[in-house]
Amino acid sequence: MRRKLAAGNWKMNGTGASLAEVEALIAAHPNPGCEVLLCPPATLVGAMAAKAAGRIGVGGQDCHSATSGAHTGDISARMLKDAGATHVILGHSERRADHAETDAMVRAKAEAARTEGLVAVICLGETEAQRDAGTTLEVVGRQLFGSTPEGATGTNTVIAYEPIWAIGTGRTPTLAQIAEVHDFLRSELVGRFGAEGGLIRLLYGGSVKPSNAAEIFATSNVDGALVGGASLKAADFGAIISAL
Ligand code: G3P
Repeated sequence: MRRKLAAGNWKMNGTGASLAEVEALIAAHPNPGCEVLLCPPATLVGAMAAKAAGRIGVGGQDCHSATSGAHTGDISARMLKDAGATHVILGHSERRADHAETDAMVRAKAEAARTEGLVAVICLGETEAQRDAGTTLEVVGRQLFGSTPEGATGTNTVIAYEPIWAIGTGRTPTLAQIAEVHDFLRSELVGRFGAEGGLIRLLYGGSVKPSNAAEIFATSNVDGALVGGASLKAADFGAIISAL
């Protein structure tokens, strides 16, 4: 009932030449068994969407909560939509850290995304110190509540659990730890949104690679992955897509 989703976050990587990876990915996986999404830097959203031609989704990595105006350097959800985006990543821990984004700001951005018809991929996750202190569920529960707008549904919202200490480190939580968090997030979503909360996909992110994708995808309430480094190369991301 929840279609699996393989999402790639290119972060601040990629130039026009990198679009060859998208071509290679689509050529190698013309009929993937899951939904596929790539989120390149804003400079590539339009070109990637043109190349993808609807065969995979294309997303931004952030948007402003306003539609337009005096916000130098920012991009609105309407602009992403206009460039061909279908999704937007919001509240990634790197943006929460680098740009002091709060749950309330993420929530406002998610509302703007919904207004424009973009799917919001809302990220949350604990630091290593929070995990060591035993506060992981409290932290992610607070982020989930604060960052997810009212009216979230399985079609307008995806949640990505990304433990900060697992991002780009090659370390991953145990499968039991992933299951614990995902089961908790599922029950929070159902508690707040009812049956619709059962339809919101929960992605795991943090050092997902071809060699660990299958076991992570088989874990309770994991509906796919948000992949960083391993999404940059068609061969690696393709292997992850095949594992879903
Ligand atoms: O958003 C994806 C991300 O933060 C995970 O990055 O490189 O550990 O797969 P990576």
